Amino acid sequence: MGFLKILLIFIFCSFPWPSTQSDFETYIVHVESPENQISTQSLLMDLESYYLSFLPKSTTTISSSGNEEPARMIYSYHNVMKGFAARLTTSQVKEMETKPGFVSAQKQRILSLQTTHTPSFLGLQQSMGLWKDSNYGKGVIIGVLDTGIVPDHPSFSDVGMPPPPAKWKGVCESNFTSKCNNKLIGARSYEHGNDSPVDKNGHGTHTAGTAAGAFVKDANVFGNANGTAVGIAPLAHIAVYKVCNSDGQCSDSAILAAMDAAIDDGVDILSISLGGSTKPFHEDGIALASYSATERGIFVSAAAGNSGPSLRTVANEAPWILTVGASTHDRKLKATVKLGNKEEFEGESAYHPKTSNSTFFALYDAGKNESDQFDAPFCRPGSLTDPAIKGKIVVCLRSGSLLRVDQGQSVKDAGGVGMILINEQQDGVTKSAEAHVLPALDVSNADGKKILAYMNSTSNPVASITFRGTVIGEKNTPIVASFSSRGPNVASPGILKPDLIGPGVNVLAAWPTPVDNNKNTKSTFNVISGTSMSCPHLSGIAALLKSAHPDWSPAAIKSAMMTTTDTLNLAKNPILDERLIPANIFAIGAGHINPLRASDPGLIYDTPFDDYVPYLCGLNYTNREVGKLLQRKVNCSEVKSIPEEQLNYPSFSIRLGSTPQTYTRTVTNIGDARSSYKVEVVSPKGVSVKVKPSKLNFTMLNQKLTYQVTFSKTTNSSKDGDVEGFLKWNSNRHSVRSPIAVRLSAE
Ligand SMILES: *[C@@H]1O[C@H](CO)[C@@H](O)[C@H](O)[C@H]1NC(C)=O
Ligand SMILES: *[C@@H]1O[C@H](CO)[C@@H](O)[C@H](O)[C@H]1NC(C)=O
Ligand SMILES: *[C@@H]1O[C@H](CO)[C@@H](O)[C@H](O)[C@H]1NC(C)=O
Ligand SMILES: *[C@@H]1O[C@H](CO)[C@@H](O)[C@H](O)[C@H]1NC(C)=O
Ligand SMILES: *[C@@H]1O[C@H](CO)[C@@H](O)[C@H](O)[C@H]1NC(C)=O
Ligand SMILES: *[C@@H]1O[C@H](CO)[C@@H](O)[C@H](O)[C@H]1NC(C)=O
Ligand SMILES: *[C@@H]1O[C@H](CO)[C@@H](O)[C@H](O)[C@H]1NC(C)=O
Ligand SMILES: *[C@@H]1O[C@H](CO)[C@@H](O)[C@H](O)[C@H]1NC(C)=O
Ligand SMILES: *[C@@H]1O[C@H](CO)[C@@H](O)[C@H](O)[C@H]1NC(C)=O
Repeated sequence: MGFLKILLIFIFCSFPWPSTQSDFETYIVHVESPENQISTQSLLMDLESYYLSFLPKSTTTISSSGNEEPARMIYSYHNVMKGFAARLTTSQVKEMETKPGFVSAQKQRILSLQTTHTPSFLGLQQSMGLWKDSNYGKGVIIGVLDTGIVPDHPSFSDVGMPPPPAKWKGVCESNFTSKCNNKLIGARSYEHGNDSPVDKNGHGTHTAGTAAGAFVKDANVFGNANGTAVGIAPLAHIAVYKVCNSDGQCSDSAILAAMDAAIDDGVDILSISLGGSTKPFHEDGIALASYSATERGIFVSAAAGNSGPSLRTVANEAPWILTVGASTHDRKLKATVKLGNKEEFEGESAYHPKTSNSTFFALYDAGKNESDQFDAPFCRPGSLTDPAIKGKIVVCLRSGSLLRVDQGQSVKDAGGVGMILINEQQDGVTKSAEAHVLPALDVSNADGKKILAYMNSTSNPVASITFRGTVIGEKNTPIVASFSSRGPNVASPGILKPDLIGPGVNVLAAWPTPVDNNKNTKSTFNVISGTSMSCPHLSGIAALLKSAHPDWSPAAIKSAMMTTTDTLNLAKNPILDERLIPANIFAIGAGHINPLRASDPGLIYDTPFDDYVPYLCGLNYTNREVGKLLQRKVNCSEVKSIPEEQLNYPSFSIRLGSTPQTYTRTVTNIGDARSSYKVEVVSPKGVSVKVKPSKLNFTMLNQKLTYQVTFSKTTNSSKDGDVEGFLKWNSNRHSVRSPIAVRLSAE
């Protein structure tokens, strides 16, 4: 549930999933492939009737609550798995279990959702570099699984867009057809009981706009961050699959159905800003469906999750998925608070008054009533009843279960004139700039403590809040966001996750409605934060790379992104985390995306799709479990299984005891035909890393060469611990870096 909790902090409000009266629940049912392979479109009807044969004979059952409801199929899958989703009672599931061909039935899971400026921060400039080389992502189709879209938004205008490529088979839901155009080429809804792809939440509009929104002039929130808003791949097409309701709840049965359709439709990239807690891959809907999507050459980019900074929180951990963490970019929406004692603290806010008003007001501590520890200190709606609040600036504590904007509304309703919101300690320097309904700003926990101490030191504490607007050129960026989920990878400890980081803090992008409750602007952009925002940045970059290099496989695109990252910030120091200490490998993976370098990586670690079979067997899954991913029978004792660490991945995650371990990697030359690479190793502390050979000489393009790397302990220390380093292949023109995480264990 950690994912949901942090989600609440940064993006959404949540409501309990409605509990139904009936005993029916939605199950995802896996079955064996039918005897005579059914694969062609014309046989889909046969597949459907095969699936129906598993449903209980009596189509109507009386449940114990007295409700009469048929057991019914909701989704029938053919690409992402063999099986279907159906409403069933537990006794109906029991009945199905006895049928030949039945594999498993899992209850559906509910997953949660997890700019003007970010393209230029990423080095994308008009008529130059990767934007020019990729023709702005022209011809590439990005499928976005989310809360839907508002089609009339200027970010989805198709001025200058070519028609979709001939391979496109997708559709726009019935009454939505007229809304689609050459930018928004598909819109389907998998939200149960609602066939409209219209976004009632905002999240889906924001993520789609980030990935591939058109150029929109004068985009801003209350005049902040004013500029030309544009997605990362402005000439890519968008296909929207609505899998979440307006509260941001997304069922895995719907996600499977959407990805099943997206594969048929012909998308090139899938952008998935959703996730849940860790699960084995055969039970994880996104991992399962992404496996089939990747097999068809579709690149899957997914959010790492918003459950940081705790370790082992990363979601979407499968090696065939690009797992994206979040960090800041160099634009701040700065606001400052000045106290009566002249101390001044910097915060962030998207609130922007027409005229700056730095008048001092009395301060009010919402936490002053010692008998209320849970509501008033957090300015929970309805909790502020003290008439003394009127005309004061209220100091509130941040609560992960509330939206920041709602905390401000609560202060406004109580008659307050401003709000200072003190972040949680774990947030460190990560601050959220939001479109507040009254003058308000986010300050760090450390600064908040100083403000409270000042209030305690005087009988008439006063403060003024000043909004300083948009500030670009913050040198300490990127900084990892406190909420960005961290490794190590729980589902597959031998694969390092997250893979990399990208911009996900205070990102400006399209929004369905004006966010200004005062209605004094017509802004239809909003600033929000989350790994949900960093994911579509990488989806857009994948589209640019795919357009520039149509022959690159999903694994090649991912390798190119991961081996060319930045590990230093704009000030040329190591990238920091929210505590302002160097971010570790479980926060940043390979580092921060550098799109220009990713377009010319020199060497790539391509993972032949067939290698995932020995990898999955090496995870000690049963034959049946591996079969659920492969959609065919497999006997792992006949497959030469490999340890996870042996997968040809662009990074290393090693658990090291006293026995040395050797792995091989194969690199493919896509740089200069004749080129020579020399290895550079920075060994993790207490570990020896030996690479053989230490030089790779290529004589032609697409030539593959293999090297061996041996890890051994150099100390007899019995202490467990995580250490990190990297190995890098350097030629005169390229540098190909792989991060190394080593977990030392006493054994
Ligand atoms: C399409 O139909 C659905 C349900 O019938 C409705 O809720 C939605 O508003 C309609 N959408 C448009 C764009 O007309
Ligand atoms: C945004 O910038 C444009 C161009 O510089 C300017 O014309 C417009 O007035 C600005 N809008 C706001 C709200 O500041
Ligand atoms: C600032 O706010 C105070 C209190 O609302 C008001 O009296 C004052 O006129 C305002 N000043 C400006 C410059 O708007
Ligand atoms: C303090 O909190 C208690 C418990 O919520 C409440 O009953 C009481 O009215 C509050 N006192 C003031 C002055 O708000
Ligand atoms: C407030 O001041 C009192 C006495 O001056 C002190 O005992 C107390 O610890 C202070 N509280 C805070 C939160 O600083
Ligand atoms: C799988 O089982 C083997 C043999 O018991 C063990 O060495 C290996 O660590 C296991 N792998 C995983 C990923 O659990
Ligand atoms: C799997 O292969 C092993 C070794 O060839 C064999 O002994 C076993 O019976 C096979 N299992 C199944 C379920 O076919
Ligand atoms: C690569 O070429 C260098 C000379 O340029 C040579 O010394 C080295 O042995 C070669 N390495 C391999 C693995 O062929
Ligand atoms: C570790 O201990 C073994 C046996 O106690 C010893 O032979 C070896 O030299 C030690 N290695 C190091 C690096 O200290």
